[in-house]
This record gives sequence, C-alpha cells and structure tokens, in this order.
Amino acid sequence: MVQQSNLVEVRGLKVDFMTTTGLFTAVNAVDLDIRRGEVMGLAGESGCGKSTIAFALMRLHRPPAIISGGSIRVDGEDVLALTPQALRRWRWRKVSMVFQSAMNSLNPVLTIFEQFRDVLVGHTGMRRDAARARAEELMKLVGIAAARLDDYPHQLSGGMRQRVVLAMALALEPELIIMDEPTTALDVVVQREILTEIMALKARLGFSLLFITHDLALMAQLADRIAIMLKGLIIEVGATRQIVEAPEQSYTRALWDAMPRLETLS
Ligand SMILES: Nc1ncnc2c1ncn2[C@@H]1O[C@H](COP(=O)(O)OP(=O)(O)OP(=O)(O)O)[C@@H](O)[C@H]1O
Ligand SMILES: [Mg+2]
Repeated sequence: MVQQSNLVEVRGLKVDFMTTTGLFTAVNAVDLDIRRGEVMGLAGESGCGKSTIAFALMRLHRPPAIISGGSIRVDGEDVLALTPQALRRWRWRKVSMVFQSAMNSLNPVLTIFEQFRDVLVGHTGMRRDAARARAEELMKLVGIAAARLDDYPHQLSGGMRQRVVLAMALALEPELIIMDEPTTALDVVVQREILTEIMALKARLGFSLLFITHDLALMAQLADRIAIMLKGLIIEVGATRQIVEAPEQSYTRALWDAMPRLETLS
C-alpha cells in the first residue's frame, strides 16, 4: 500500500551549467514530490534535464553544474545543507542510484565481492566476513549465484552486471532508489525480467523509486505517478492513468502519440 506522506520534497530546484558561452539553466524551478513506497516516473525528451535532477538529488552534481536555487528534502532532512561528512553517511544509505549505462560502472580490475566490500565496509564499518555474508545475501536477492562474487565484471553477462549494480544500490537498504535508464543497454526480455524483479523487491522492502526511462510503455506500466519534463521544466505531474489517458499538456499528448501502441505490437 502506498502511504501518502512525502519521502522527497524538491522545491524550486534550479541547476545551472557554467559554459564558455554563459550560464545554461538545465533545471528551472522544479517542484517534485516522491511519496513513500511510490514509483515516480520521470519522462521527457533527451536533454530536458532528467539526469541533472537525479544527480542533484544525490548531490552528485559536479562542476560545471551548480545548484543555484531551491531546496531538496529527503525524509525531512535538508540535503543541500549536509556537510561532506554527513553526505558520506547519507548517500547510498538513504538514497542510492543506478546510473545510465550502469553495467559499465563496475570497476573492471576488482572482483564483484571486492566492490561489495568497498560499499559495505566503507559505509558501515562492517567486518570482512560479515560483508561476505551480506554480499551473498544481496546476490541471492537479485538472482545471481553467490559464487559469482569471485568473478571479475567481464566474466558476467550484461544482464548479470546490471543485477549486481542493482544489488549494490540495495546494499544499505535505502529509502529511495533512483534508476536512470537502468536497463536500456539490455535486450527487451532481460530488461523486463530485471524490472519485474525490482518491482517485487520494492513490494518486499518498501523503498521508493524514481524511474527515468525513454520507454514510455514501460513507465506507464510501472509508475504510480509520472512527471513530464520539457526543457528544464516539469510541465505536468499526476497519477499514471491521468497522465496517460487525460493529459493536460499538448506536449504530453504528443509524447504518447509518438509511442507505439502495445496492442498493435502484440
Ligand atoms: N557538463 C555539462 N556542461 C554543459 N551542459 C550540460 C552538461 N551536462 C548536461 N548538460 C546539459 O544539460 C541539459 C540536461 O541534460 P541531462 O543529461 O540532464 O538530460 P536528460 O534529460 O537526462 O537527457 P537524456 O534523456 O539524453 O539522458 C542538456 O541540455 C545538456 O546538454
Ligand atoms: Mg539522462
């Protein structure tokens, strides 16, 4: 059951890029709420600012990006006010992220276990044997044999690497997971399989999801609510059914009209 209280409250968020030709506003006065246990979909054309919002939410934005206005609260906490030390404790524990092209974000020279260990020991001070047990548990959670922990990333298939990245995002049981195009590099069958598993895990563990994808059919299927972005602005947000069936903005209608119909595909 989705509770109605907000886990995330973004107000008036503005993110600028300092470019050689001046300031470029990539995210312009964005308001966004994500409720506890909710899947919030974020859609819009390439370059509209989706990943910029995701990075700002995690405070992973780096120059030339600067947050020039607004506020971000997660579970009541003022994220933009966190000190670097507090941020290290907060990140991955409260909010984690699966990046665009995530399967390439594993370190090629470390085994899968060594990468789990870095996350677990680095963030919790867990002992090595406890980290091993937890890593095995996490691998099981995403459907990979624990023996694979001793493999290097190149020994795993793309789908497995993606599952590993997901398991790492789950490692500290965050309340929000941001998934930015998490499965686009995978074939459709594996993509659906992984997303079905993510939804099952969400039902079990109760985290909220911010789900960014260009696959609008998939988004309509998985999201409770959808926010539509256009050129740095959120122009419309609402329950998935309303956004799909009765959008207020002509841009949103155009997005759906450009989408292949499920019924004509099957
Ligand atoms: N390092 C940078 N310097 C200057 N501008 C940037 C930089 N990174 C992103 N931008 C600009 O910010 C805008 C938003 O980019 P962002 O990556 O958030 O878009 P997006 O909605 O995630 O797109 P996509 O769907 O292609 O991933 C784009 O116009 C992009 O060109
Ligand atoms: Mg992006």
